[in-house]
Amino acid sequence: MRTHYCTEVTEKNIGEIVTVAGWVNSRRDHGGIVFIDLRDRGGLVQLVCDPADNKESWEVADGVRDEYVLIAKGKVRARGEGLENPNLITGKIEIVVEELIIENKSKPMPFELGDEKVNEEIRLKNRFLELRTKRSHDIFKLRSTANIAARNCLNEMGFLDVETPILTKSTPEGARDYLVPSRVHPGEFYALPQSPQLFKQLLMVSGFDKYFQIAKCFRDEDLRADRQPEFTQIDVEMSFCTQEDVIKVAEKLIHDIFKACGKDVPETFPRMTYKEAMEKYGSDKPDLRFDMPMVDVIDIFANSTNEIFSSIAKDKKNNRIKALRCPNGDNIFSKRQMKGFEDYVRKFGAKGLGYFQMKEDGLKGPLTKFFSEEDLAQIIKVTELEVGDVVFFGAGDKKVVWDYMGRFRLYLASQMDIIPEDTYEFLWVVDFPMFEVEEGRTKALHHPFTMPNLEKCDLDNIEDIEDIESIAYDIVLNGTELGGGSIRIHKEEIQSKVFNLMGISQEEANEKFGFLLEALKYGAPSHGGFAMGFDRLIMLLAKTDSIRDVIAFPKTQRAQCLLTDAPSAVDNEQLKELSLRIRKTEA
Ligand code: AMO
Repeated sequence: MRTHYCTEVTEKNIGEIVTVAGWVNSRRDHGGIVFIDLRDRGGLVQLVCDPADNKESWEVADGVRDEYVLIAKGKVRARGEGLENPNLITGKIEIVVEELIIENKSKPMPFELGDEKVNEEIRLKNRFLELRTKRSHDIFKLRSTANIAARNCLNEMGFLDVETPILTKSTPEGARDYLVPSRVHPGEFYALPQSPQLFKQLLMVSGFDKYFQIAKCFRDEDLRADRQPEFTQIDVEMSFCTQEDVIKVAEKLIHDIFKACGKDVPETFPRMTYKEAMEKYGSDKPDLRFDMPMVDVIDIFANSTNEIFSSIAKDKKNNRIKALRCPNGDNIFSKRQMKGFEDYVRKFGAKGLGYFQMKEDGLKGPLTKFFSEEDLAQIIKVTELEVGDVVFFGAGDKKVVWDYMGRFRLYLASQMDIIPEDTYEFLWVVDFPMFEVEEGRTKALHHPFTMPNLEKCDLDNIEDIEDIESIAYDIVLNGTELGGGSIRIHKEEIQSKVFNLMGISQEEANEKFGFLLEALKYGAPSHGGFAMGFDRLIMLLAKTDSIRDVIAFPKTQRAQCLLTDAPSAVDNEQLKELSLRIRKTEA
């Protein structure tokens, strides 16, 4: 039908007859001559319909409106002097139309394409129209390039692409499951996979050695700017490997994907232990595009005459007192802004936010009276304060302090506008704890199939369960958790012990993961792997701050698809077949 994409028609085609097809981006009538910017996947080309050249096509052009679909045949000619458009690839030429077909008409658009101020609800309802924009086309081109680069890279390294079931049994990744009722087994349900975790481990037991999949995962959890209920992972697993081997594969994969997308990133990335990340940045995914680390001042505060600080300082295992230096903060922020900072950290559990200002003649602020001159000098020294700086303090339970001071560090940096946009700062966070205790319940920090670091602990002799380290690692990019993985437990007795430590009884373990425990009894090789959030990767590559931009048909923050109106009620007949009845609950 067509001979060229719009943007393939350039000066070298002058004098040729070409056929292009696409949508009317705009139509202008200049003194009886109609100019149409025709748009396809690649971009725009200008059509000219002049009654003096071809009356018939001019008549068709007269009835054309925005977003009509046209097929145009005509002769390429150079644009007149001064009429060139340097912003377009095709800006030096135009097509003098000899034959114009309206392939389809379009209703007036519900919103102007590319207008980002338009309410997201309208855009998502008409997502197929929003996807017509150049921005969307560029994002999905990038996504396709990254997907193919990932496949090529893993294929070259000998990984097999194996699909795993979507209708399955739940695997615990920390979120709620999406359930699918079974018609044939009334009252029973499949779960959609939160990840292919257990299947990829089973494939190692099957001797596949190296597996990958660009896999759909489903998690019913609170949604955020970088979370969707349905998302994609690049999922990888390998046998007879160490953490080093897995990290090498992940680094090569990331390097190849970025290279294919035109970005040069290092071949290896720095590493930091979980402990260091929490102590210095208050987060297991520190954004290292800027530094601003926190400094421990609990020993100095232990000497203070302020009772709150000195009593917090008594329990060094569970409490922290952290200082965060804000360079030049005294000159940048007003009193009102400083008050606003306190309101900000209170939202995350802080009881308050102390601070000192570094003036020419030393530290100032209401809290200084609680410290000796030597201790004030020590604070200046350890936090490396300079005149004009402010230093903030967070004190209390370590997890709470890490959390709000970590968030505050990011908040301050964004207020000061010191986070560079154009860099990619990768970081491996390693040596994660195996468990965390929340409200008295022991949870696996990564997942319960992760190998505890048995060189550093004895599972039969545990003092503090939170001190057990695992062989788990996360890859962080610009403060976003891009992916994570671990070396897995490949021995049934260790797996049973881990379930036991989590308070999962043998019966429950058998009921939920009996197939895995059974498989581990049949010569399971040592193995490990990782999964990278593919949507998040594309978000970071495309430099967009919403995951919805990089998913063709995304869900809203309330997990709805506004385009298809899912989820939606089904008729009683369908429910009956599934042996289900809807119980109305009071709102
Ligand atoms: P994890 O749960 O850490 O590990 O997930 C791996 C990566 O998947 C991405 N991700 C998400 N992306 C978008 N929306 C979501 N709701 C969402 N949840 C997770 C993140 C995350 O780092 N089976 C293990 C991996 C392994 O151990 O091999 C797993 O799924 O980028």
